[in-house]
Amino acid sequence: MKVQIVYASMTGNDEDMAEIFSDDLTDAGFEVESTDVSFADAAAYEAADLCVFVTYTYGEGVMTDEVADFYEQLKELDLTGKHFFVMGSGDKSYKDHYCETVDDMEKAFLAVGAQEIASPIKIENAVSDEDMDLLDQTAAKIAAQLNG
Ligand SMILES: Cc1cc2nc3c(=O)[nH]c(=O)nc-3n(C[C@H](O)[C@H](O)[C@H](O)COP(=O)(O)O)c2cc1C
Repeated sequence: MKVQIVYASMTGNDEDMAEIFSDDLTDAGFEVESTDVSFADAAAYEAADLCVFVTYTYGEGVMTDEVADFYEQLKELDLTGKHFFVMGSGDKSYKDHYCETVDDMEKAFLAVGAQEIASPIKIENAVSDEDMDLLDQTAAKIAAQLNG
């Protein structure tokens, strides 16, 4: 089974999340491809069984150009029958805008017919040991569901 991860990261926190998740699913026997959003085309999701998007939120939820371009591509797809999972890093001091881009991407996946395999993970800034445990546990649950 194929997993396509796309991540958006400026200072590395979301890249770390993507890497942990990618390692977990690779260890669980999946074929995982992980791509920086700057080099990704959303159509790559069409060849995947599980579509994953990992993203920062900057500017009170206003998408950066890179993420906005990808978001527009995603909205044109038909991902009916595919699973998706979104997660990201943000900062709670931004209150209502905390991890807002994660929420926006979740809505976009749902709008193109994809099925959410697990609730989004939102973490604050860098990945802590606790966050890492949550990522590992979530990857294990998702692997079990995909295999089941
Ligand atoms: C200028 C600026 C604006 C930010 N705006 C938001 C925001 O609106 N919402 C949020 O949850 N986090 C916000 N953050 C926090 C970042 O999303 C957070 O530090 C995240 O870990 C960065 O991820 P990255 O290391 O993958 O780039 C902002 C940070 C900066 C520096």
